[in-house]
Amino acid sequence: MKAIQVGLLGIGTVGSGVFKVLQRNQEEIKRRAGRGIEITMVADLDTARAEAITGGKAKVVKDGREVIANPDIDIVIELIGGYGIAREMVMSAIAAGKHVVTANKALLAVHGTEIFEAAHKKGVMVAFEAAVAGGIPIIKALREGLTANSIQWIAGIINGTTNFILSEMRDKGLDFDVALKDAQRLGYAEADPTFDIEGVDAAHKATIMSAIAFGIPVQFDKAYVEGITKLAAQDIKYAEQLGYRIKLLGITKRTPTGIELRVHPSLVPAKRLIANVEGAMNAVVVQGDAVGTTLYYGKGAGSEPTASAVIADLVDITRLHTADAAHRVPHLAFQPDQMSSEKV
Ligand code: HSE
Repeated sequence: MKAIQVGLLGIGTVGSGVFKVLQRNQEEIKRRAGRGIEITMVADLDTARAEAITGGKAKVVKDGREVIANPDIDIVIELIGGYGIAREMVMSAIAAGKHVVTANKALLAVHGTEIFEAAHKKGVMVAFEAAVAGGIPIIKALREGLTANSIQWIAGIINGTTNFILSEMRDKGLDFDVALKDAQRLGYAEADPTFDIEGVDAAHKATIMSAIAFGIPVQFDKAYVEGITKLAAQDIKYAEQLGYRIKLLGITKRTPTGIELRVHPSLVPAKRLIANVEGAMNAVVVQGDAVGTTLYYGKGAGSEPTASAVIADLVDITRLHTADAAHRVPHLAFQPDQMSSEKV
């Protein structure tokens, strides 16, 4: 069967990771998806960079509209970010009957309702595993693995930049500004790092998790948002002396008066697992009535961890788009026996 054709809008840090991992793990991904997945078109303002990354394997254009207008493209990946052009591209991709994969938490947290309604009407999928907690499959956990549960609360470290800054300030005594610069250099921070340090990015992600967990519309404007800019090195030191760590937590919970949604620095007892999540790592704790407490941990930012989530969505969509009903549930994709001949 012909490979599913993918158009990529934006080939920066995450986009180049998607391209690389798809190439590197091509055969395994094909087996799992039941069909090859190929990025055949890339749109980026920096066409020279795009040409260098794709090495002639995809057609490079400047304008995303060309990708959307191509009838051969089945799935559009939006990695532009922000609310402006990204929103226009996602809405026109949906209108053109393309499935969409996006890592754009800001767009979904603010315009998700409009986007999901349009997709629903058009009968296309909008997948967004990469929008929350990078490489951690938390969206799939909430939507699939925990689907039997009435979720009671979710609390998570869902912004790598701020967790990195807090760790560097505590462990190395670095100044806030130096630690932020390091986070930017390592590719964790948003284009506008204000979103990270003021808690907005974490609130976008908490908003999306809240909508899935509690079946409510995405309502970023209902979130209480406070970042880490008012924290001083002294606060971190005093917390430590009292047996606590300061973590920027995204929290959403069911209460008798409605769903709570908030992001703010929190004192977490140093013995708790989540208090020991360091650097740009993310962790999300979910409390369900049937399953109890579950914990998800991993890289929440960076090129290949985020690409891992984007490609998981590509595989899901490919399977659902292509397969007959019997093959829609992920199945074991057998390959020639690769077991070691030695018994251990
Ligand atoms: N700026 C984000 C973070 C990137 O630091 O977690 C991943 O969403």
